Amino acid sequence: MPTLNEIRSTFLDFFARHDHRIVPSSPLVPRNDPTLMFTNSGMVQFKNLFTGVEHRDYSRAATAQKCVRAGGKHNDLDNVGYTARHHTFFEMLGNFSFGDYFKEQAIPFAWDLLTQDFGLDRDRLLVTVYHTDEEAADIWKKYAGLPDERIIRIKTDDNFWSMGATGPCGPCTEIFYDHGDHIWGGPPGSADEDGDRFIEIWNLVFMQNERFEDGSMRALDMQSIDTGMGLERIGALLQGKHDNYDTDLMRALIEASANLTDGEPDGPGNVHHRVIADHLRSTAFLIADGVMPGSEGRGYVLRRIMRRAMRHAHLLGAQDPVMHRLVPGLVGLMGQAYPELGRAQALVEETLRLEETRFRQTLDRGLRLLDDELGRLGDGQPLPGEAAFKLYDTYGFPLDLTQDALREQGREVDVDGFEAAMAEQKAKARAAWSGSGEAADATIWFDIAEEVGATDFLGYDTETAEGVVQAIVIDGQKVDALTGEGGTAWVVFNQTPFYAEAGGQVADHGHVRALEGVHHEGEPRFQAQVSDVQKRAGGLSAHLLTVDQGRLQVGDAVRLEVDHARRTAIRANHSATHLLNEALRRALGDHVAQRGSLNAPDRLRFDFSHAKAVTADEIARIEAEVNAHIRENAPVETRIMTPDDARAIGAAALFGEKYGDEVRVVSMGRAPGSGKGAEGDTYSIELCGGTHVRRTGDIGLFVVTGESASSAGVRRIEALTGAAAFDYLSTQEERLSQIATELKSRPDEALDRVRALLQERRVLTAEVAQLRRELAMSGGAGGKSSGGAEPKDIGGVPFLAEVMNGVSGKDLPPLIDEMKARLGSGAILLIADAGGKAAVAAGVTADLTDRVSAVDLVRAAVPHLGGKGGGGRPDMAQGGGKDVENAQSAIEAAEQVISG
Ligand code: ALA
Repeated sequence: MPTLNEIRSTFLDFFARHDHRIVPSSPLVPRNDPTLMFTNSGMVQFKNLFTGVEHRDYSRAATAQKCVRAGGKHNDLDNVGYTARHHTFFEMLGNFSFGDYFKEQAIPFAWDLLTQDFGLDRDRLLVTVYHTDEEAADIWKKYAGLPDERIIRIKTDDNFWSMGATGPCGPCTEIFYDHGDHIWGGPPGSADEDGDRFIEIWNLVFMQNERFEDGSMRALDMQSIDTGMGLERIGALLQGKHDNYDTDLMRALIEASANLTDGEPDGPGNVHHRVIADHLRSTAFLIADGVMPGSEGRGYVLRRIMRRAMRHAHLLGAQDPVMHRLVPGLVGLMGQAYPELGRAQALVEETLRLEETRFRQTLDRGLRLLDDELGRLGDGQPLPGEAAFKLYDTYGFPLDLTQDALREQGREVDVDGFEAAMAEQKAKARAAWSGSGEAADATIWFDIAEEVGATDFLGYDTETAEGVVQAIVIDGQKVDALTGEGGTAWVVFNQTPFYAEAGGQVADHGHVRALEGVHHEGEPRFQAQVSDVQKRAGGLSAHLLTVDQGRLQVGDAVRLEVDHARRTAIRANHSATHLLNEALRRALGDHVAQRGSLNAPDRLRFDFSHAKAVTADEIARIEAEVNAHIRENAPVETRIMTPDDARAIGAAALFGEKYGDEVRVVSMGRAPGSGKGAEGDTYSIELCGGTHVRRTGDIGLFVVTGESASSAGVRRIEALTGAAAFDYLSTQEERLSQIATELKSRPDEALDRVRALLQERRVLTAEVAQLRRELAMSGGAGGKSSGGAEPKDIGGVPFLAEVMNGVSGKDLPPLIDEMKARLGSGAILLIADAGGKAAVAAGVTADLTDRVSAVDLVRAAVPHLGGKGGGGRPDMAQGGGKDVENAQSAIEAAEQVISG
């Protein structure tokens, strides 16, 4: 009996033998479709090849594609667990031709694989064709030898396949397997077709049309093939089972669930195990593809799936979280075919454990409330919408979880009442908000948010995506279109890879282009630059567009492309900021807390509480530590949790910041014994909504370029990473090399050379000062110095006054001391002619200070020199002025002071 893994391989090998390229499954979040919530069939990743917009180097392909059908056009969530063939997650096997072969080859391939490689009994196979497709009927008759009664013509859309409301489509032929008349059911198209006797196993679509929004269709230029066969269905058939959940892989998951709970895979808990097995797969694969549980969009669908599974685990009596314990088994079963599952294993386990721990806190109380409500209801009465809303709002029960809980009793929820209660709450929030005095022009964003819902941010996982224009705002007014080169507007899309400025990280820049096929009469294809992205009310991201050409209208589908180089540099700076934050804390102490930051493409800035300057030594250590973690090249991990859980594992949060119910937690680096993280060995953990590198090595290099005070008690560090850091260091090196050349030394000797030169300069300066004094004393400095002149007697006080050239103000005090020594007793006034400026100093020997004060002498002299003030002690005082010409009258003024 082949396993599902073997069946997948047989399928891919068959088509590889027939010259098909085996293409890996694309992610569950479609990169190339703005309208699709999840990848729901194999053709999604090839959509643009069918329409001829995109070309690749192959024209035949085969895949095993991960698919999720929960939310959107194809939604199986409500039925999972209760039926044999519904899944939220399944694998679709498919072969594709892009203008290569068509029906004549596609039908024989399918027939050969089923009847030869898979060895199915040809007499049990029958097919449907679209009622006008005689060509296909003919090939079935001729190639497979099917009799007319086993080629059923179907008129309805069942045999005209489309992916969604728009896009490539075409008639199809479906292959069915007849399980035999011991099972109830009729052939396709009959009244009993919903029975289990005839099971569809493979759908071959003849892609030949494209459908547009207005419902019109065009014929495609080339004819192509898209086929889809659910692995679980064909697996069940080949394993002789009737129920997809009895295949080896699903069965292993069901048994694992039973082992962890009631031990009875086929007991009364069977439905619960089936739900758990299915939902475990969608949860794990969605998280591995970057979806995190949240309260909007894809994140909310994931949360609904997770909580639905958790309620079933709870019904099995599980006291502690169990879902995460099933993950290793799943990775063992499917990790080889889908390596991304193994890579995300830790993240999947932790996300499940935290979500389950958290949901259990309200689950019991919610279920009690539900029981109370049900106790009050009469037979068959639906649960009032208000009760369902309370369960949703207060206890975190998604509507479908409540519906699922009631299903077992055959009861329904008053969905209209639920929606009315939801609308009422929104209206209250709105009233509270409009009363809060926010600027009036912000009202428009609130209106838009209410109408279109929050923007789904895809930018953690991708830098390009398609989106649909939901609103265009020019000068605070909603408009229908943006047009004209140079025209600007704020534009909202349903989803975007662009990061809106937040938490110190600047907004992404990039381009927006209309998708091929989106044309406006007489206009070239729309193209614009994005130069800013800002968050607006209700989780909207508004993009500032400047038109290059063309016209953009609400409803248009566009391709959004983030400037990759810029985003890469921003990422490196943001991740480096986290490492810096931790390195600072470790180097300086626990008082270090973030006070602000900037993560731009060309630099980073980090402000933090710290009372004094960070020393050069400390900076060197911090730099070394950050760079060591960069070289460590550890993965950067992201999780969603409650703020309390985040704090419990040691996440750094901004003090005083208000956080919502759940926070994004970014961790990086290893630090054994740190006590941080689930294992207690993580280096940096921070609450952060920003975009980060995948591994710390992507930062490349980190260098601090500045340290300064930002405000009282707050220091600021500026730094560079990657190429900018390298350029900075290169420039520094270049400067050093120029210095060395000037010094005629090698760079490594330059410092010693500079030290030696400085020392030499100190010695020379001292010598020069000494020589000047000597020169001044000997009267040789030129000018009017009288050097050895005799003092004048003024009323019994010997007074010596001189004007000196070539000496500076600071040479005067030592000269005065020397002169005092020479005179023994007297007063001295020296005026230095320092390059046009005047410096004056006076000295009085100790025996005379009670008669004459040096301070008075200076103060008398200074005004004549064009200066003010002057001061010192009675025995020595100094002052200065701006002109030296009147030195003589300054001396006379001093003489007057002495003569009294
Ligand atoms: N795309 C087709 C399907 O999903 C084959 O059924």
